[in-house]
Amino acid sequence: MAGIIWQSGQPLVVNDYDNWPDRVGDYSRGVLSSIIGVPLLSRGQVLGVLGVGREHAAPRAFEQADIEVLTQFGRLAAIAIENARLFSTAQQELAERKRAEQEIEHRLAELEAINRISTALRGAQTLDEMLPCLLDETLNMLGTDAGVIWLYDLPGNKIIRSAARGWFTQLKDVKITTREGIAGHVFQTGNAHISPEFVKDALTRKVVLPQIPAGWGGICVPIHTEQETIGVLFVSVQLPRQLGQEEANLLTTISEIAGNAFRRAGLHEQTEQQVRRLGALRSIDMAISSVFDLRLTLNILLDHIVTQLKVDAANILLYSPHTQILEHGAGRGFWSTTQTHLRLRLGESLAGRAALERRMVSVADLRTQQENISKPEVVFGENFISYFAMPLITRGEIKGVLEIFHRAPLDPNEEWLSFLETLAGQAAIAIEDTRLFEDLQRSNMELELAYDATIEGWSKVLDLRDADAEGHTRRVAELTIQVAQRMDMSETELVHVRRGTLLHDIGKMGVPDSILSKPGPLSDEEWVIMRKHPQFAYDMLYSISYLRQALDIPYCHHERWDGTGYPRGLKGEQIPLAARVFAVVDVWDALNSDRPYRKAWTSKKALEYIRSESGKHFDPQVVRVFLEFLDDYFAKEKN
Ligand code: C2E
Ligand code: SIN
Ligand code: SIN
Ligand code: FE
Repeated sequence: MAGIIWQSGQPLVVNDYDNWPDRVGDYSRGVLSSIIGVPLLSRGQVLGVLGVGREHAAPRAFEQADIEVLTQFGRLAAIAIENARLFSTAQQELAERKRAEQEIEHRLAELEAINRISTALRGAQTLDEMLPCLLDETLNMLGTDAGVIWLYDLPGNKIIRSAARGWFTQLKDVKITTREGIAGHVFQTGNAHISPEFVKDALTRKVVLPQIPAGWGGICVPIHTEQETIGVLFVSVQLPRQLGQEEANLLTTISEIAGNAFRRAGLHEQTEQQVRRLGALRSIDMAISSVFDLRLTLNILLDHIVTQLKVDAANILLYSPHTQILEHGAGRGFWSTTQTHLRLRLGESLAGRAALERRMVSVADLRTQQENISKPEVVFGENFISYFAMPLITRGEIKGVLEIFHRAPLDPNEEWLSFLETLAGQAAIAIEDTRLFEDLQRSNMELELAYDATIEGWSKVLDLRDADAEGHTRRVAELTIQVAQRMDMSETELVHVRRGTLLHDIGKMGVPDSILSKPGPLSDEEWVIMRKHPQFAYDMLYSISYLRQALDIPYCHHERWDGTGYPRGLKGEQIPLAARVFAVVDVWDALNSDRPYRKAWTSKKALEYIRSESGKHFDPQVVRVFLEFLDDYFAKEKN
């Protein structure tokens, strides 16, 4: 009966039960005379079957009225079952929600603390301002007053106490090696260290034990930037209080933020210095080429934003203070590419308003905002409904706008919004960092141009002095670059080759006019002085770090392949390639020109001379390439 009703969903009456063919085996044979059953229905679904029967002792057939009564009972039973089920699910859900709420609350508190610290760090410009700020905020958050920051000092290979609070201020050593104590251990391993009580910790430095108060333990975490560990942070609490893994995680996050802020501070200080400091040029150069590409950073950021906030699309508009225009920087999740051409004035459209008014602009349904959207083609056809525009601000300056689009209504909660704020903060920092780098790169370039102009100026002066050698320097520079290119020297090397060539005879500044312009051959004493000109060049240029890599030519252009040259008598490949290339070009050009001490040779004679010196004065490989080059050159001339 139960099975039939379950399947049919209909009441069933059997008034001769013993002879009913569908009966289950011998069940109840001889006991029941008749049975009746109804489905337990709830919202059209059969939850079960309610059945009753009459015994042979008091037989009576079931009728329509019985069905109706039983159906009523069945309805009540179904409701009761449904309620019981709902109740237990609700209870489970409630418990889950509580757990989630606690989790969120915890995360929110953490985010708040982190946000406070990173905001505070953002406000600070220099490392000296940042350190106490970081330490105080961290101690404040953990409700204690003892902590210290140790920072690594490269020149001394030591870690130095850079900010201290509470009992840490009483410790005598302010400088330790990177192998000592808990600080050294954490610095070396890069892992956080939890200590219930420092005086009982085997890692604590023995000499410092008497200075540490008993009953104080805590955590030490590394502070690192993306590239390296730069220090450690201690936070200490008094027993019975203990700090655990959770606090360690929180501190790790904070120290990561701090590390990046410190790196920024370093950069900021560099910006101010670099105009004065030529020496920093190269190191900055490397930093630039190794990391920063704004598009890449923004794309990574947008990936995070779209997945973390669970939205359909997002873009970042970059603000240019010069043109006062917001322009597409990067986008994710758009069907069409129209938005990549987006340009908005400050105050124009929704994004422009967010930037101008420096506040979030949110729209529940973009379709109702047609009149406020100045470039409707950007959102048209994308089916967007909800919209948020967050201004990106660092140090009080607008860097851009983050726009969030969703193709369904969004009803964000506090957590979502605060997360959006955090992500917008990160985007603003990324833009600022990259801009800083771009500015550096630009002023580096300007500096290089200024220096190259200076070098050209010098070389012109040199040519003027060496009256007959006029134009020599420029000519050999061009020739040398061409041959060096054929020798497969890289673009970077070529830059140094060019500078070195322009300066090749700068050492002749140390040679008196009487020798330099002498019409006849030089005496032995005069040769001694003349042969010093490469060494003079070295002495003059070595201290200019920007020109150090260009030194090969001024210093080594009179070395000879067979080892008979000067000033050092280098041999073969001991001579830098740039100098080997230049030597051929220099002699070629000298022989083709008038000198105070002789008239110009014919180019045929000069050519024969170069060929005959292959393997003696010159690198044979360079001579071969040089002759090929001249062949090509003359062939072109003929045509
Ligand atoms: P430079 O005049 O620019 O010559 C550069 C190099 O080209 C010389 O290096 C030499 O290798 C080659 N060269 C130039 N002229 C001749 C030449 O007539 N015959 C041959 N075989 N090679 C030549 P080097 O010899 O080390 O001389 C360095 C610099 O010393 C010269 O630069 C020039 O300023 C000066 N110098 C060399 N010889 C004399 C000379 O007889 N009288 C004077 N007044 N100066 C000389
Ligand atoms: C049956 O369905 O045959 C057994 C009787 C009952 O479940 O009520
Ligand atoms: C956009 O900015 O992508 C168009 C929507 C608006 O801001 O008006
Ligand atoms: Fe020379």
